[in-house]
Amino acid sequence: MEKSNGQRVVLFPLPLQGCINPMIQLAMILHSRGFSITVIHTRFNAPKPSSHPLFTFLQIPDGLSEAETRTHDVTLLLTRLNRSCESPFRDCLTKLLQSETGERKQRISCLIHDAQWIFTQSLAQSLNLPRLVLNTYKVSFFHGHFVLPHLRRQRLLPLQGVDYLPLTPTNKILETTKTSSGLIFVSSCEELDQDSLSQARQDFKVPIYAIGPSHNYFPGSSSSLFTPDDTCIQWLDKQEDKSVIYVSFGSLANMSCSELIEIAWGLSNSDQPFLLVVRVGSVKDTEWIEMIPEELMERIKEKGKIVKWAPQQEVLKHRAVGGFLTHNGWNSTVESVCEGVPMICLPFVWDQLLNARFVSDVWMVGIHLEGRIERNVIDRAVRRLLLEPEGEVIRERMKLLMEKVRRSVKQNGSAYRSLEHLVDRLSSF
Ligand code: UDX
Repeated sequence: MEKSNGQRVVLFPLPLQGCINPMIQLAMILHSRGFSITVIHTRFNAPKPSSHPLFTFLQIPDGLSEAETRTHDVTLLLTRLNRSCESPFRDCLTKLLQSETGERKQRISCLIHDAQWIFTQSLAQSLNLPRLVLNTYKVSFFHGHFVLPHLRRQRLLPLQGVDYLPLTPTNKILETTKTSSGLIFVSSCEELDQDSLSQARQDFKVPIYAIGPSHNYFPGSSSSLFTPDDTCIQWLDKQEDKSVIYVSFGSLANMSCSELIEIAWGLSNSDQPFLLVVRVGSVKDTEWIEMIPEELMERIKEKGKIVKWAPQQEVLKHRAVGGFLTHNGWNSTVESVCEGVPMICLPFVWDQLLNARFVSDVWMVGIHLEGRIERNVIDRAVRRLLLEPEGEVIRERMKLLMEKVRRSVKQNGSAYRSLEHLVDRLSSF
């Protein structure tokens, strides 16, 4: 770490895996640049302080009941959190600011919060504290918040049955962002989002920092809420180069028993080795994988391995992995690009639909699955990607994209320069 610069940054992540990872990675980057770090977090999905002994963690009550913490309705969960965390967050931040002249004499230079905390604007203003917004989505998806009201007014939306935006009200997110001192994208860079970035700069009218795939600055760092099953690395060690299809749908997606069974049959029928992550509670009406029929379980044992949670970044780095069947959460998508692993896209909701389109139709580094989940479709896609010439072409394109994105976080790359600007800005507060 560089010598402390006497400034402290307060971070306030949203308590979802896909949002905690990038925020903690940003914390590590800023800490390495001399900032002290305080993370204010909810009791629900609290990060593990022991994984980051150099940061200060302050927990606030979130008012969620046991049943609410188990809900699959993310929109409801975040609406509830925004309501119940406002007052505890205010108390915590106020106390922190009052103590800043204490023993450690560290000035709190700013607050960085997730874009989906929408109550922070007036609070930070009343405390005279500069505030930046962190966004964990692709720039073009976030920019959709800006475009969406216009499309609605022109009656170009909605397309029936499509879930566009997860969470809290679009106009509130917009307002909170436009009144901030800057917008940070931790997993985007010019190479992945050039057009949207220049458009977003015009529309939001605040400085925008796209600092690139943050996990590239600190490979192997973890803020996982689940315990990864490391035995999958030993299993991968026994497989041939680029032969394995890795399958994971992130920390929120849910599916039916029959969908999981179709996926497992498709993978088994493809005759390629596969590593399948089934999160506990992610398959409706069942605990884990007890509904998989005996006959299929026997087939799975021949070529596959099922785990409850994987060390994903390590898995994607492994020489044996040749493809990633993914829901295209933004973190998973970028992690796959950074390791040059081509994808089979099976998006569920929200930004995943857009991310998948970029993978298949814009960057052309993956195969998009449309329609119902069926074993033949999965089987065919795995073979196309891992065994056929089409897969070779996709892999070559992915390699080029990977190199471009990796260059962007190296000295003088676009993301690296953006990070320098961010550090300068934070130091100026
Ligand atoms: C959520 C939304 O669903 C997604 O649409 C949005 O883009 C980000 O927020 P999530 O569904 O969890 O995220 O997916 P993703 O963004 O891919 O993040 C998952 C994270 O968990 C990744 O960093 C991945 O490396 C990690 N992970 C996932 C593991 O470490 N092990 C696993 O087995 C699965």
